[in-house]
Amino acid sequence: MGASRGPLRRALRGAHGAAGYTAGAMKSVVILISGRGSNMEQIVRCCAAEHWPARVAAVISNRADAGGLQFAAAHGIATAVVEHRAFAAREAFDEALAAAIDAHRPDLLVLAGFMRILGEHFVRRYEGRMLNIHPSLLPLFPGLHTHQRALDAGCKVAGATVHFVTPQLDHGPIVLQSVVAVQPGDDAAALAARVLATEHRIYPRAVRWFVEGALRIEHGVVRQCRGEAQLLLPEGGP
Ligand code: GRF
Repeated sequence: MGASRGPLRRALRGAHGAAGYTAGAMKSVVILISGRGSNMEQIVRCCAAEHWPARVAAVISNRADAGGLQFAAAHGIATAVVEHRAFAAREAFDEALAAAIDAHRPDLLVLAGFMRILGEHFVRRYEGRMLNIHPSLLPLFPGLHTHQRALDAGCKVAGATVHFVTPQLDHGPIVLQSVVAVQPGDDAAALAARVLATEHRIYPRAVRWFVEGALRIEHGVVRQCRGEAQLLLPEGGP
């Protein structure tokens, strides 16, 4: 055992050192969903396929009928439901949710289509280790009906944003954005589908960067330490 420790440690360092994170430091990731969970699915798949230094420890929903729970359970991931309707006050829901999350000792909390507004106390508890994806080019169009609002405003581009969560809804330091062109004749559903396809590319990338320790927040701006592009442009250029 003693004799193999040095070479083993060197081998591990060789395998992972270039990526800039410590071998053996597996990060625990907890994902919150409210619905189909297609972003969660992509994160789970990429985590396994790309051998991230992380495991998705749990998928938690505020709705028992969230489709994504079945995918998570089928992949051996712990699932839990904390029904918001069971709580009269938001603070009590937030507390119960935090207890379910903390049972998995998360290094990172990922909101993936989680449709509840979280209180400031909850947000502060996970500040700097909680990511969200929003289907607009923030700070434009926070909140609901983003695609219709972009169309109504005559926007020529739309997109999605992965950001660190702060108490203000759909704000917070931006990790990565994707851009899609608005096509003539687009309705909200068509635009949403094209934006979602880009969400599936940028969210796993952002989560991977976090678990690899490749993100720094400097004066409210997120820097990718390896200089990788924090922007996904449409195929064929802008
Ligand atoms: C995504 O468009 C996400 O940006 C928004 O809600 C949707 C969730 O989709 N916050 P899914 O549950 O990940 O399929």
